[in-house]
Amino acid sequence: MAQQEDVFKKIVSHAKEYGFVFQSSEIYDGLAAVYDYGQNGVELKNNIKRYWWDAMTLLHENIVGIDSAIFMHPTIWKASGHVDAFNDPLIDNRDSKKRYRADVLIEDAIAKIDEKIEKEVAKAEKRFGESFDREMFCKTNARVAEHISKRDALHQRYSDAMNANDLDELKQIIIDNDIVCPISGTRNWTDVRQFNLMFKTEMGSTADGAMTVYLRPETAQGIFVNYLNVQKTGRMRLPFGIAQIGKAFRNEIVARQFIFRMREFEQMEMQFFVKPGEELKWFEYWKQVRLAWHKALGMGDQKYRYHDHEKLAHYANAATDIEFEMPFGFKEVEGIHSRTNFDLSQHEKYSGKKIQYFDPEKNESYTPYVIETSIGVDRMFLSVLCSSYEEQALENGETRVVLHLPAPVAPVKCAVMPLVKKDGLPEKARQIVDSLKFDFATRYDEKDSIGKRYRRQDAIGTPFCITVDHQTLEDNTVTIRHRDSMEQSRVKIEDLHELIHNEVSLTSLLRKLA
Ligand code: GAP
Repeated sequence: MAQQEDVFKKIVSHAKEYGFVFQSSEIYDGLAAVYDYGQNGVELKNNIKRYWWDAMTLLHENIVGIDSAIFMHPTIWKASGHVDAFNDPLIDNRDSKKRYRADVLIEDAIAKIDEKIEKEVAKAEKRFGESFDREMFCKTNARVAEHISKRDALHQRYSDAMNANDLDELKQIIIDNDIVCPISGTRNWTDVRQFNLMFKTEMGSTADGAMTVYLRPETAQGIFVNYLNVQKTGRMRLPFGIAQIGKAFRNEIVARQFIFRMREFEQMEMQFFVKPGEELKWFEYWKQVRLAWHKALGMGDQKYRYHDHEKLAHYANAATDIEFEMPFGFKEVEGIHSRTNFDLSQHEKYSGKKIQYFDPEKNESYTPYVIETSIGVDRMFLSVLCSSYEEQALENGETRVVLHLPAPVAPVKCAVMPLVKKDGLPEKARQIVDSLKFDFATRYDEKDSIGKRYRRQDAIGTPFCITVDHQTLEDNTVTIRHRDSMEQSRVKIEDLHELIHNEVSLTSLLRKLA
């Protein structure tokens, strides 16, 4: 685990050093849990968004996109339940003046017991070798059995308190389990309070004062309130979907793990409207389709798993997360929810407008049911970055840092390099750049030794390096170097376009899904 944490630290500094992600407002000491994407980060992020958008809108003729405003009428958030229930339980330590999520403090305490168990198991596994029986060991080793029973009891008490929304009990659990503030080390806790995660601001200035509006905490409501507009103007028949990519804002109490939990982030959401009674069939369909989308990137099928929700929100009748194995464990990247007709019905109630679908086959109107797929762009970005990063020991004793990014999302697709800065090689290299740049993000690089230039491109995940040498001037061939294998081969300049296209085009990725 400690080793994985080290790797994660390296990934975070690599992301900064190579222009992927910067701390926001860094020269003013930063703004917590807010990040900026640099010159390479923005390209990688745009490619991920393009992959999602095209997979939704090109591969499904019944899915269209929208781009709704971030500010919306405040009643929308009353109707959706966010004003009353989009809360986290918060607790302060009076000595350090630090604020925590009570549920996270308890989950961390549970994780600590899990760590102790794993430590004992690992020690025993080493001692017993191949004959080691984990299940038997956990049952019979007194110390481990004690840890397990403590853990299970704590977990049960915690989930009961969360389910009952019992804030006093959450505080009592913290006290009974001697959970201390990580900064002050004391148990001087305040009561637990609910904390609404929406950011508020004011719009307009009238004599009576301005209207309080919220920065949207999800993009989904922008889709729901446009359901009728899109259905009518696009003459959409059920089932159909509306997709949207956009910023969302949440005043997270505990924001950590880099861009995993941010206060300003981006979502890619799709609401799929279906006939009532067909929602569970479509829920299964979208579970499969979305996992296939992730797996097509080739980052390793074993890195994904579903996490089906046992406890469902009151309006949902099925929900699952697609989790990805980050260096800090399996974590949610995407949620797929069967939301029944809750949102549309709520907006009908609060707006007083009829929000239904007229079914020409049944000759009746009803409120469609909805399957939602919701993925965080930044979490997706993080999963791609983490799974691509490798410090590779080379045969010559050197190490190279390489990002094995899926080629279609790599920020730069090819770099063209003259072997030396003279004899007409730079001019020839520039000609190649000019022939490729309309279709691929292409860079020209003539600075430093060729080895250093290769390393620079490896570090940002460029799939191809093209080297122009003296032979190029004679026979119009170049050396093409493949990032992952480092193999080099001689190819004709006229063949470059097709060769690169086959590897880096989004089309080839989308074809895997069709
Ligand atoms: N409309 C449903 C919805 O918003 P959610 O599970 O709260 O559901 C969906 O969020 C996705 O948005 C998550 O799976 C995650 O990828 C991303 N997400 C949520 N909160 C985030 C945060 N604070 N920072 C980064 N990504 C976040």
